[in-house]
Amino acid sequence: MTNDLYYRERILEHWQNPQNFGVISDADLVIDQVNPLCGDEVTFYFKINSGKIKDVAFSGSGCAISIASASILSENIRNKKVSTLCRITGEDVLKLLGGPVAPARLKCAFLALEVIRRINGNS
Ligand code: FES
Repeated sequence: MTNDLYYRERILEHWQNPQNFGVISDADLVIDQVNPLCGDEVTFYFKINSGKIKDVAFSGSGCAISIASASILSENIRNKKVSTLCRITGEDVLKLLGGPVAPARLKCAFLALEVIRRINGNS
């Protein structure tokens, strides 16, 4: 399988079956993020305990890349210390997605990362 195919399959898999999609009604922290280029929006819900992400969910609508990125990142940050989340880079997100995306789609790929970057200021 070429990297390109892997990339497309991984994005499609998470888009069609997003992990942690939903709402946490008693969340400790809720953060919305809009992609100003298209108006798509995701909302993340976090349960935080002893400085760690104990539960995470997201809702909203967006393109395949933004939903796949939110799904993959939500899996990735569970049980991580909030103080370490600022170390997640855009490059890490692209690796998790399985490869680079077109420059015009970087905002889509990083929509969820922008939420993660706002956790520290809000928690
Ligand atoms: Fe809207 Fe990708 S086109 S988030």
